[in-house]
Amino acid sequence: MQNLGWIEEYDVGVQKFNEQHMQLLTALKDIYKAMEDKQDKKALQNVLNNLLKYCREHLAEEEACLLENGYPDFLEHKKQHNFFINKMLQFCEDFKDEKFTLHFDIAMFLKNWIIQHIMVVDKKYTSFLNSKGIH
Ligand SMILES: [Fe+2]
Ligand SMILES: [Fe+2]
Repeated sequence: MQNLGWIEEYDVGVQKFNEQHMQLLTALKDIYKAMEDKQDKKALQNVLNNLLKYCREHLAEEEACLLENGYPDFLEHKKQHNFFINKMLQFCEDFKDEKFTLHFDIAMFLKNWIIQHIMVVDKKYTSFLNSKGIH
């Protein structure tokens, strides 16, 4: 089983974003679990779509907050979000069209991107948002 619990290192200093990140990790865990249990296509599609939904909601909320507060690196941050959403959309489409089965390398890509993004890109906004009184 993948180690997908939330750890201190993922703390971005904003409570609601930490909670949303936990939700993403839970959705990732569901994907791994569905694969490990060799669940059917419908179930896999379901967990994949769930992650997409939570990602969209979270990334949009993060972007709104950064934009609203005049975050200097907003465009670069948004670019990274767009890249990921496009990838995920492609995965969901291809999976639906039976272009591939859900492999562990896809799950690994999703997991690595999310964790890397939280630890490297999201954490850059911590002091900025905190200085605006957002915790
Ligand atoms: Fe982000
Ligand atoms: Fe985030």
